[in-house]
Amino acid sequence: MGNYQIIATSAMGLEALVAKEVRDLGYECEVENGKITFSGDETAIARSNLWLRTADRIKIKVGEFKAYTFDELFEKTKALPWEKYLPENAEFPVIGKSVKSKLFSVSDCQAIVKKAVVERMKIHYKRNSWFEENGSFFRIEVALLKDVATITIDTSGQGLHKRGYRAEQGEAPLKETLAAALIMLTNWKPDRPFIDPFCGSGTIPIEAALIGQNIAPGFNRDFVSESWDWIPKKVWADAREEADSLANYEQLLEITGSDIDHRMVKMAQENSFEAGFGDMIKFKQMQVKDFTTNLEYGVIVGNPPYGERIGEKKAVEQMYKDMGGVFHSLDTWSIYILTSNEEFEKFYGKPATKKRKLFNGSIRTDLYQYWGKRPPKQQD
Ligand SMILES: C[S@@+](CC[C@H](N)C(=O)[O-])C[C@H]1O[C@@H](n2cnc3c(N)ncnc32)[C@H](O)[C@@H]1O
Repeated sequence: MGNYQIIATSAMGLEALVAKEVRDLGYECEVENGKITFSGDETAIARSNLWLRTADRIKIKVGEFKAYTFDELFEKTKALPWEKYLPENAEFPVIGKSVKSKLFSVSDCQAIVKKAVVERMKIHYKRNSWFEENGSFFRIEVALLKDVATITIDTSGQGLHKRGYRAEQGEAPLKETLAAALIMLTNWKPDRPFIDPFCGSGTIPIEAALIGQNIAPGFNRDFVSESWDWIPKKVWADAREEADSLANYEQLLEITGSDIDHRMVKMAQENSFEAGFGDMIKFKQMQVKDFTTNLEYGVIVGNPPYGERIGEKKAVEQMYKDMGGVFHSLDTWSIYILTSNEEFEKFYGKPATKKRKLFNGSIRTDLYQYWGKRPPKQQD
């Protein structure tokens, strides 16, 4: 087994959650803006892809160095051990980004890195001609930040938010990684009720069910590094077997999603079936102002409309007022609402216990948290 520097990339603001997940998998890590770095072998690559709910991608760090000139970028990239990763027929496109760096032309940086890798491979594989690139896929990235080039290979393929269950989506779907993060920021335990009153395509309830039954979020999808010949098939098989053995399919769940739009309810149901939960998650058509429950000590996580669209603002503010009205008496429930509306608390009618800044894509939002009474005898 090899030893690799592995980077789990993270959306802005979710680094601490990703780091906790990495540590829970058993790997010590370092946290920087947008990336969590740890070392591990091929098994760590497979397990982190399968298990991390809040990370965007898993990458291997091939090298990191200062690069002030194109010559430096070329020579230092060429000095990296590319033959360790890329077979002779590898398909290896190069993507790039540059922030606050002398080498700001991303397309030039990409071309130089590509050329440097090819030169290294030509020497190693004793070739004079170009490579066919008809083999496994390795997406290389050159990321320059303050003149430091970090060169990585992506091991995930599609981003980790693609769990494989969302066949359909509504207008403003939440990324699965953010939905999982919202749930992980609550005090929900699988034996407590969970409700999303704005369920849309069902992302939050489905992520809650995955968490509730400890199902690895990547269990039902493929990863690009599964086709790499230096990661033995057994590594993936063992990681999947471990995930299967850790899943608690017997865990009963009391999860409900509702939405004003019946088409959304149908879509959420279909996605829930696709995720393997069938009828285990209840979905129903309902507007939030009709919400009632006789359950206790539950958790509500909602991603309502933000009222940013023209003509929508007043109706959304009224809806926030209605929500405050119906949730008012739920003193044993903890309520978490994600919105970009900075006056949410005013309309809802109550100051939040705590607010947490989060980005929903490029939209700056807050998670307004209203903590309920703790259930009797809960230890943590
Ligand atoms: C931002 S979307 C939620 C997206 C969802 N989290 C997902 O991942 O697909 C907001 C949802 O709230 C629903 N909605 C709007 N007004 C509502 C109301 N008064 N009561 C309940 N649902 C409402 C919309 O139909 C929409 O599906």
